[in-house]
Amino acid sequence: MTVSTLDDNILNPDIFPREKGPPHRLFDKWRKEDPVHWNPPTPAYAPKPPASPVTKGFWVLTRYQDVFDVSRDAELFSSHEAGFMVWDHDEQTLAQQRANFMGMLPADHSAVKQVLLPPFSPKAMMELMPDIDRIAREIVDDIAKKGSCEFVFDAASKLPVYTFCELMGIPEQYRERVAQCGNGLADVENRSEQSYDPLLELFTICAELSEEKRKSPDRGLLSAMANDKSLNLNQMQLNMFFVVFAMAGHETTRSTAAHFIYQMNQNPDQYKLLLSDVDKHLENAIEETLRFTNTTTNFRRTAMQDTVVGGYPVKKGDKLFLSYAAANRDPSVFENPHVFDITRANARKHLAFGTGPHVCIGARLARMQLHALLKQIVTRIPDIHPVGEPTWLHSIWFNAIVNMPVAFTPERAAR
Ligand code: HEM
Repeated sequence: MTVSTLDDNILNPDIFPREKGPPHRLFDKWRKEDPVHWNPPTPAYAPKPPASPVTKGFWVLTRYQDVFDVSRDAELFSSHEAGFMVWDHDEQTLAQQRANFMGMLPADHSAVKQVLLPPFSPKAMMELMPDIDRIAREIVDDIAKKGSCEFVFDAASKLPVYTFCELMGIPEQYRERVAQCGNGLADVENRSEQSYDPLLELFTICAELSEEKRKSPDRGLLSAMANDKSLNLNQMQLNMFFVVFAMAGHETTRSTAAHFIYQMNQNPDQYKLLLSDVDKHLENAIEETLRFTNTTTNFRRTAMQDTVVGGYPVKKGDKLFLSYAAANRDPSVFENPHVFDITRANARKHLAFGTGPHVCIGARLARMQLHALLKQIVTRIPDIHPVGEPTWLHSIWFNAIVNMPVAFTPERAAR
């Protein structure tokens, strides 16, 4: 086993901005020499309250198969026991994580999932498609004649906010604030610098809305959750359900769209290929972007018994860090993994959406939104390019671009 130093500690929040994303040089080294790598806790990297510190060491999984196997076994590797994020929570925060759909006991998780699945079915998604296409067109109508914009908020963020609010049944007047709070919350490690508490605000909005939905039920997900007698969710469970959607339904899709534009610019030969036949290449180019960039770089599990992971003995109670980012660059699955190749035959095999019982419920929706928005962009303002370096989130969890000024030939002039 190799020993971490401050320079190769995955908890160092400077790593992502420095490496412009997850630290693949480090992951490659570990995958080769020490694929189930022990990362010690490091007080120097503890985020300021209210974010939780990392007080315990943990195993970093860098091989595809290990991340896959652990994700598939929710009984042995729990998201509930100590939560699903790498940080070690106090009792109150842990109770919130456990109330969250992602952190429920397996039996409760499957009961809630039964109610959640129909709105995400292919048929339900197809019904959303005309709206998604219309909004994607409107977003690009708004920016196309300007010749420049700030991509993350002017272009990438609007569609995910609209769709998750529609799905949830969040009325117009709350939408902007819910999106802001979702962003604030995704910025886990910098919450002490925020002038408000995004978690509390989302709780307040959810309490107000669920009260309304109990009085006047509608077709939205929040109404379904608040009124389902068999689930009988308490207010904390509803709040946490609301929170996970405010975060997961927005930040991830938005950042993937930004990464797509950035990567196309970094790989002009690939962009040229895409533009040569957008209908043929766009779908796989999105999968390759998901594989290559991984907005959600990791989640955590806790071993419920002494066991073996990838040949390494793991003790009951040990923490496992599932690095989707590392798994998606495993050369035993993806040939030349560090090459961005939009024709990669097995790009869709990536674990960017996780796998197993907790696999992303919004994957189909995310793919639809990305396809609709990016098709409008690459066909109408194809010479779009970042101006200067984008700003990366200071985080070890989300690989997010938070600001990316872009320029392009205005649409009218191009025609
Ligand atoms: C590019 C976009 C997205 C990425 C990369 C992404 C990534 C992920 C990942 C890696 C997980 C697995 C968590 C685990 O195993 O513990 C997950 C779960 C989840 N995602 Fe996504 N997600 C995206 C979009 C969305 C959207 C659009 C929604 C909803 C509107 C959504 C809602 C969820 C929910 C509710 C879960 C929890 C599933 C469960 O625990 O059963 N995600 N996502």
